[in-house]
Amino acid sequence: MQIDIITLFPEMFEGFFNYSILKRAQTKGFLKLNLINLRDYSLNKYGSVDDYAFGGGAGMVIQIEPVMNCIEDLQKKTNYDEIIYTAPDGEMLNQKMSNDLSLKENLIILCGHYKGIDERLREHVITKEISIGDYVLSGGELASAVICDSVVRLIPGVLSDEQSALSDSFQDGLVAPAVYTRPAEYRGWKVPDVLLCGDPKKIEAWQEANAIERTRQRRPDLLK
Ligand code: ADE
Repeated sequence: MQIDIITLFPEMFEGFFNYSILKRAQTKGFLKLNLINLRDYSLNKYGSVDDYAFGGGAGMVIQIEPVMNCIEDLQKKTNYDEIIYTAPDGEMLNQKMSNDLSLKENLIILCGHYKGIDERLREHVITKEISIGDYVLSGGELASAVICDSVVRLIPGVLSDEQSALSDSFQDGLVAPAVYTRPAEYRGWKVPDVLLCGDPKKIEAWQEANAIERTRQRRPDLLK
């Protein structure tokens, strides 16, 4: 999969993509990440890409031309399955959306900033708008990183068997069951006996029951 992130702050991604699973996905060739600095498409020598909003009001708006020039430049080399824009009023990211996106070949993610982008981009160019939650971030970079993390780990082959995404919370509509490790008893707090019994069928039955019970307690909305 190729992900091209258009951002005003490419440096913000460097640490994030250089560790753990996102790093390994790139080393193993499952992910090609390109960070594109929108300022490279500025129309002036100052590198600015924003302007005042028509009609007034506080806050600047990202201009249509730098974004269009950037996207059209990228499209010369690549056909994109989705051109994603991160915004708090987008469709809420969930596991199903991440699963669907993990099967795509090429994605653009445009990070929002300031008051947002010129609405004509949303009307004519953006194919998917994603929010990561009902709160407002200072920019779309964190949201893009969250989207990439949740999508890339689902690309077939990225996770090893032990890390399998199949046992993740939400993957089967339930939160994941509780997990424990050694010691089996600490200050009198005991690991459930069944997990120590060695019978895979009993353990699996307990894990399933525990996942259902936890979902009922923590996320009853998922069971509806
Ligand atoms: N940009 C600002 N807030 C955001 C959010 N909650 N989700 C996605 N992009 C954003």
